[in-house]
Amino acid sequence: MYETWEELENSIKDCKKCKLCKTRQNIVFGTGNKNADLMFIGEGPGADEDAKGEPFVGRAGKLMNLSFGIVGIKRKNVYIANVVKCRPPQNRNPEDDEADACLDYLRNQVVLVKPKIIVLLGSVALKNILGKEYGITASRGKWFEKNGISYMPTWHPAALLRDENKKADFINDLQLVLDRIKVE
Ligand code: URA
Repeated sequence: MYETWEELENSIKDCKKCKLCKTRQNIVFGTGNKNADLMFIGEGPGADEDAKGEPFVGRAGKLMNLSFGIVGIKRKNVYIANVVKCRPPQNRNPEDDEADACLDYLRNQVVLVKPKIIVLLGSVALKNILGKEYGITASRGKWFEKNGISYMPTWHPAALLRDENKKADFINDLQLVLDRIKVE
């Protein structure tokens, strides 16, 4: 566990802990306010994120930004990261060995950010952070407490692109978060 962002970011620079290093263009470390009360955890970079080195800059990210605007979250005030920092080929889900190899980076990010609330975007984030026994359909929109942090699982923004009906749930879940914490 590194005590500074500089050490942590240096430690990941040439990461070869899993096979995703062979196909990545860029490591997508994380972005936003490093002292945020509110943190978002996604699954892993897609093609746009891989190209830019920044999380949630593609279609799903644009929809997430739009939803942030509706409820009044400013992207620059929250911290955003993923379970895996390198793009899984063909946007497949990260495999267990890849997530296991990468999770220490995310845990270290959480320790450094010290968020009060973490929004888990989709099933991969939920299962890797709270446990494999949780399912996103049953868990979304509910609060979970672990190690002094409140967790709100919700749909992954990409799921909203496939199913319009999930948009209202997503906004609802973000609103629950804002009711608990006011992020300027
Ligand atoms: N999907 C994710 O889970 N993370 C990103 O950064 C982009 C798309």
